[in-house]
Amino acid sequence: MLKLIDKLKQNRILTKDEFITLLDQHTEKDAEYLFSIARAIREEVYGKDVYLRGLIEFTNYCKNDCYYCGIRRSNKNADRYRLTPEQILECCDTGYGLGFRTFVLQGGEDPYYTDDMICHIVRSIKEKHPDCAITLSIGEKEYKSYKAFRDAGADRYLLRHETADEEHYKKLHPSSLSLENRKRCLRDLKSLGYQVGTGFMVGSPYQTTAALVEDLLFIHELQPEMVGIGPFIPHKDTPFGDEKAGTLERTVFLIGILRLMLPNALLPSTTALGSIHPKGREKGILAGANVVMPNLSPVNVRSKYLLYDNKICTGDEAAECRMCIERRINSIGYVVAQTRGDYKSVL
Ligand code: 5AD
Ligand code: FES
Repeated sequence: MLKLIDKLKQNRILTKDEFITLLDQHTEKDAEYLFSIARAIREEVYGKDVYLRGLIEFTNYCKNDCYYCGIRRSNKNADRYRLTPEQILECCDTGYGLGFRTFVLQGGEDPYYTDDMICHIVRSIKEKHPDCAITLSIGEKEYKSYKAFRDAGADRYLLRHETADEEHYKKLHPSSLSLENRKRCLRDLKSLGYQVGTGFMVGSPYQTTAALVEDLLFIHELQPEMVGIGPFIPHKDTPFGDEKAGTLERTVFLIGILRLMLPNALLPSTTALGSIHPKGREKGILAGANVVMPNLSPVNVRSKYLLYDNKICTGDEAAECRMCIERRINSIGYVVAQTRGDYKSVL
């Protein structure tokens, strides 16, 4: 197994069979070996720095109906909200004071926000905080919309592919959504010069090891600047409410693999990871992650943006997450970088 890990470090890719062996047959010792290499690579490129992204969850309306997601259109129990452009800007102002230099605007696919509105919001933030990066995470759009957002000043875009296996994709989504369009979006975003993030859930219902290997091969092909992964966690008001959650162990092991595949990538240690284990985010960083995305949403809406049950950081203290995260990062020997934290394409 150690040889396979060395080979992955060397070639940044393995064959399907090798990936399956690695994923299904590794021991705890193998995992420790993987993590030590992942940390060394990450430190070579990014040192001990951990980058912060202020996450602003600005709408929980969504026109889609993904079977796993708590804000799916069919969930009549979701308490819906939208932030105004002014409220979003206020979040950024607060965030700036707390040291954030990247703002992630995330929401459901909500047609209420027209392209013009998104462009206006992006421009207003850039005007006030020209030294900050703006990341959009608002789902599947047409090329011309992505172009307009980019022209307005958006720097990055997050769009997880969720699963790169066709059959599996259909088990997680209604027929109105397709893996093909998802991939088209990711390629459009890349061609427009965004720093692009994709990713998938670990342990989602019907996920096989072979499907996970498809995720890794797709990521190798796309060469994204960012990859966000987290465990699937059931939400009680969805069709997957009674399914099992993904595991911490498998998620961090995949973070380690991703660091060897993409030495320069920005890999978040996600909120979902922190939600299934009290030290989940620390373990993610120790497996090779180098980004955290504390919640910057206004406190009165935090408990409404629930993609899954038992989500952390829905508390009622605005600056709490910022300070909590710094404490956690320092406790494992890493430091918070108060910079944009752009992708480094060369060492
Ligand atoms: N558990 C874990 N992650 C989820 N997401 C959506 N629903 C869940 C869930 N139940 C993830 C998806 C999406 C991201 C914003 O949140 O991967 O892309
Ligand atoms: Fe949100 Fe710790 S990061 S409470």
